[in-house]
Amino acid sequence: ATHKLLLLPGDGIGTEVMAEVSRLIDWLNKAGIASFETEHGLVGGAAYDADKVAITDATMALAQASDAVIFGAVGGPKWDGVPYDARPEAGLLRLRKDLGLFANLRPAVCYPALADSSSLKRDVVEGLDIMIVRELTGGVYFGEPKTITDLGNGQKRAVDTQVYDTYEIERIGRVAFDLARKRRNKVTSMEKRNVMKTGVLWNEVITAVHDREYKDVQLDHQLADSGGMNLVKWPKQFDVIVTDNLFGDMLSDIAAMLTGSLGMLPSASLGEVDAKTGKRKSMYEPVHGSAPDIAGKGMANPVAMLASFGMALRYSLDMGALADKLDEAIAAVLAKGLRTADIKSEGTTVISTSQMGEAIVTE
Ligand code: NAI
Ligand code: MG
Repeated sequence: ATHKLLLLPGDGIGTEVMAEVSRLIDWLNKAGIASFETEHGLVGGAAYDADKVAITDATMALAQASDAVIFGAVGGPKWDGVPYDARPEAGLLRLRKDLGLFANLRPAVCYPALADSSSLKRDVVEGLDIMIVRELTGGVYFGEPKTITDLGNGQKRAVDTQVYDTYEIERIGRVAFDLARKRRNKVTSMEKRNVMKTGVLWNEVITAVHDREYKDVQLDHQLADSGGMNLVKWPKQFDVIVTDNLFGDMLSDIAAMLTGSLGMLPSASLGEVDAKTGKRKSMYEPVHGSAPDIAGKGMANPVAMLASFGMALRYSLDMGALADKLDEAIAAVLAKGLRTADIKSEGTTVISTSQMGEAIVTE
């Protein structure tokens, strides 16, 4: 089958790392291994420069029509002064909102060749392979009321509201359980049911979904604070972790540092399955930003971007075996001692973005 992809490189190193995805796609097409049809669009500062918006309606229509959106990174000092609604991040937020991307998947994988660049000891992280599933469209970041009120006595009061409905917890739970079935069959749900009503409901709904539909998967519950402690103490106990927007934001950043550089971390964001087509909207992007400090120098690590494309192969395009091959190629290139500057260490060879991309493609 032919797969329709929308490539949105964005700004700064976004364009540099996306070029390596294009290299891989061209190679796969030429070799007859896969058939990709790609469209390209502008997002972030690049879209603002062309059209005075962070993403155009025409690009959004392409996103809606694609099997997966592959996103680079947006932003940079050049656009610091643009109107709020047209700021680069607005493009990313519109994509997430209009595509209904409620599930954010952040794997934390420790390649053996990089185990010494982790914040933790080698034996704690070597072979680590966990998946954090963060709820992305609900919770305290979006709940109303959200206000700052002047109390008139020299005091102000700030209010954020954490809200979750049953359906939101059910659908994120299903994403986590489905993933676990393809991995090591274990889900750990994290909340704070001891002090939060949303934690009580979260725990109840995740348990109900499990008991009703996923009895074959092992389910554990941890409080999010001690869960965070366990994440740095003994991370290999986890397979899939499912948690809300706020805790997921923090826990996934913590997990990221178990595995080394920002330049190594991919992510996926998934929407609901369309009842008619059986497909779901999805977007794949590296965790890092546009890195203005190294942009244009050919120094950026393309692994996070390529591994994000690998997640697209696995989760949207039904090409898990090819995704495995890509992961193996990345591990093999690292094992040979080839490194971009961000992950260099004693005795390794530093190469450029395009040399790294080429090494992975030809591996
Ligand atoms: P950043 O992730 O762009 O960079 C942080 C540090 O990590 C920098 O020193 C950078 O050189 C390094 N780095 C990041 N990715 C790398 C890679 N692939 N290879 C080698 N080194 C890498 O975050 P920062 O500096 O906070 O933000 C820069 C711009 O990016 C800002 O405009 C920010 O708003 C935007 N941003 C965009 C995101 C997105 O598009 N999803 C996410 C985070 C930030
Ligand atoms: Mg964060």
